[in-house]
Amino acid sequence: MDFSNKVVYEIYPKSFQDSNHDGVGDLRGVIQRLDYLAELGVDYLWLTPFFVSPQRDNGYDVADYCRVDPRFGTMADLEELVEQAGRRGMGLMLDMVFNHTSTQHRWFQKARAGDPVYQDYYIFRSGEKLPTNWVSKFGGPAWKYVPELGKWYLHLFDETQADLNWNNPRVREELKNVLRFWKGKGIQGFRFDVVNLISKPDVLEDDQEGDGRRFYTDGPHVHEFLQELVRDAGIGDMITVGEMSSTSLENCLQYSGAGTGELSMCFNFHHLKVDYRDGDKWSLMPPDRAALLRLFDTWQIKMQEGNGWNAVFWCNHDQPRVVSRLGDDSVYREVSAKMLATCIHLLRGTPYIYQGEELGMTNAGFTSIDQYRDVESRNYYQILLDAGKTPAEALDILAARSRDNARTPMQWDAGENAGFTDGEPWIPVQSNYREINAEAALRQPDSVFHYYQALIRLRKELPVIQEGDISFLYPDQSDVFAYRRTLDGEEVLVFCNLLSKERSLPLTGCYEKRLGNYPDIQWDGQTVTLRPYEAVVLTAVSNL
Ligand code: GLC
Repeated sequence: MDFSNKVVYEIYPKSFQDSNHDGVGDLRGVIQRLDYLAELGVDYLWLTPFFVSPQRDNGYDVADYCRVDPRFGTMADLEELVEQAGRRGMGLMLDMVFNHTSTQHRWFQKARAGDPVYQDYYIFRSGEKLPTNWVSKFGGPAWKYVPELGKWYLHLFDETQADLNWNNPRVREELKNVLRFWKGKGIQGFRFDVVNLISKPDVLEDDQEGDGRRFYTDGPHVHEFLQELVRDAGIGDMITVGEMSSTSLENCLQYSGAGTGELSMCFNFHHLKVDYRDGDKWSLMPPDRAALLRLFDTWQIKMQEGNGWNAVFWCNHDQPRVVSRLGDDSVYREVSAKMLATCIHLLRGTPYIYQGEELGMTNAGFTSIDQYRDVESRNYYQILLDAGKTPAEALDILAARSRDNARTPMQWDAGENAGFTDGEPWIPVQSNYREINAEAALRQPDSVFHYYQALIRLRKELPVIQEGDISFLYPDQSDVFAYRRTLDGEEVLVFCNLLSKERSLPLTGCYEKRLGNYPDIQWDGQTVTLRPYEAVVLTAVSNL
């Protein structure tokens, strides 16, 4: 199946729209905002987990895969959402967290009560000391001891997120049933959470070089497991995207390749680590833009050569807001938000937009640890203090890196709590909502919202954006992202100035401007001059 003409919009329901005054977003809230999403022009809505969960990791700790958590609504609400979205031409994608379950899940409860059948659903090891030296991605050891069993269980994330044992065929059957269930409800696609971590080796050993990830990332049976899941659950024609943690190009070609029977596309995160010092998320560094461009170049070209397919994106519920991270969230906020959107939307791949990105929403601006809700951020705050940082230093790091930057409530209007809730929001609203909100953006013809809308329309209009080949231009320029798309004699050129400094580049030929974040274009037929954060999209004009 080809999803090259589609655009996906990610909704984090908890922060999208509250409909019942409890300060937590819910499914009826999403229904209320469907017209807005249809106006933007997106094809699929990916909803992050709203299943029964203790919410230790905001729903990524699932206690029942087939029930709606009452705090988000009811199954009837979900059915109505599917129906109402469908009427507006949008399909729903659900988030399947199949690497682990919550320790509140019935399976884990039975395992903990001593049932050997259910213990084999998870990865338990006996012994006095830690089975391996692996580190949890949220900090601390990746094993938790259960005294009544005298055993440890593996958790690559929080200690309440126990890793499932995919080597057990019963586990695989259970998960296929979950997919069949949701397919039966009219769900059109799935996003698979950290799915390249599902296959662990039979024998687990200490990692002398790192935190253990090299043993389970793109693990021994991951491709077989995915093929089996997709085939047996009958989801091969649906849109499926895998979240691939620290993956490799070779593996992504297999995960998303035409005819491999795995997924339609994958997310990788290498381009979102160019501001990690020595690969450490909690050590700040200005973004290395030359590295960013090299990464796009390599991944785009190699995925094209190998017939793989990318999910292209800057933002999601785990990433800081891109305009604060790679753009300028003050003077050039709108212009740089549009430029960053242009970079992504014309690449070879299916673009993903994260709620609020289309408004140019910024980082949260939190200044106190009490404002943070995220388990990872709170853990790392303590880890940073233990490592000798002052509270002010640790808060500066969180302000740049916390996942809560993406989780502040969607800014709908200039009213109380940005129109998100008339209750007490579960997480503080970013205080710039009076200026940055959907209502204002819809009124303003040249808003970031309308620019995203134009990018989506352009994709629908031009097959070259959907299917064209890509090649990168001006490789010696580290601050200008420029590329060419071509298909059957059609051609699109994209120029994005990543900085506030003006740039001039040689350009000859017959082109016309199709889109840009400045009203005009500075091009004399020989040289194109790009103003601060300027983005221009040109199409070739045939001179017949
Ligand atoms: C993914 C999710 C993230 C979650 C983690 C564990 O990375 O996007 O939000 O915390 O998996 O499920």
